[in-house]
Amino acid sequence: MMAGTDLKSLIDRLEETQSLTREEWTELIRRRNPETAEYLFERAREVRIRHYGRDIFIRGLIEFTNYCRNDCYYCGIRKSNGKAERYRLTKDQILSCCEQGYRLGFRTFVLQGGEDGWFTDERMADIISEIRSGWPDCAITLSIGERERESYQMFFEAGANRYLLRHETFDHDHYARLHPPGLSAAHRQKCLRDLKEIGYQVGTGFMVGSPYQTPENLADDMIFLKELNPQMVGIGPFIPHHDTPFADREAGTVELTVYMLGLIRLLLPKVLLPSTTALGTISPDGRERGVLAGANVVMPNLSPTQVREKYLLYDNKLCTGDEAAESLKNLDARLKAIGYHITVARGDSLNIS
Ligand code: 5AD
Repeated sequence: MMAGTDLKSLIDRLEETQSLTREEWTELIRRRNPETAEYLFERAREVRIRHYGRDIFIRGLIEFTNYCRNDCYYCGIRKSNGKAERYRLTKDQILSCCEQGYRLGFRTFVLQGGEDGWFTDERMADIISEIRSGWPDCAITLSIGERERESYQMFFEAGANRYLLRHETFDHDHYARLHPPGLSAAHRQKCLRDLKEIGYQVGTGFMVGSPYQTPENLADDMIFLKELNPQMVGIGPFIPHHDTPFADREAGTVELTVYMLGLIRLLLPKVLLPSTTALGTISPDGRERGVLAGANVVMPNLSPTQVREKYLLYDNKLCTGDEAAESLKNLDARLKAIGYHITVARGDSLNIS
């Protein structure tokens, strides 16, 4: 099937129509090669420059707790990892992160954490309201996992604008092989629909090269992205963590990750697309390669330095180099070397539909 179909013409059609069939996606992913990839990146860069110029948006990431009630097989801060050194930031510590971030030029704060019961709805809403009144010109992004719709509603009313929740993988069976019983693709996807309906700008995404992942799974992820039409899509390579059930699995590659980034840029031309820390972690030039494949966001770390090395979702996670918020100048210099630059604009998605 599709034996004679030329991959370049599929890429052209993707750019023109922002849509492909499941079979076409699968072929485009399975039969990729360096020449096709280079062509894809050229198209993706052109689309990105048309909508966003050469600007790179920055988000200040505050990893405020690594306690988590979940036990995802891939994740270093899973509940069963007795070796993880747990921490949670106080409200004052979180507010100081915002203060420092604002001074550095950040206009989006991302509160990211494990699913930590200590942060009840009331405590979260209180923190969100304080940030909202202290920094009224900033966007507040939450990345705290699955909650009830009522909780999401409460956080939105307290002043949160955006929510990041990766769907991880669309396929229900694949999802079940990455997560313990009790967690489901269906519930994850319901949360995403709730968030959208409430009015959040939503970010979703998946790991590339996670255990058992097939080209068909990635094809389904692309079709899901098209249907959800999120404002942001975060993807990064799976990287094993030594104290998880997936310790001995192979990591995802830069090569497939940047290829997926290029495809996402053509599928959702105006989407916000981070070049993630995980991508920077598996290769010294990973972050740059992400940008050259169509990414337009970076999320430096604003957490207090002494906790950064504890928020370890995977091995060797970068936390003290140019991905640190204090090093924006270095990051900007690296981006300038490839023809891009950091902007301090809030960077709301143009993908408001
Ligand atoms: N490798 C790469 N990404 C990971 N994440 C969690 N564990 C890993 C890992 N071992 C990603 C998940 C999650 C996000 C916060 O980090 O996709 O949604």
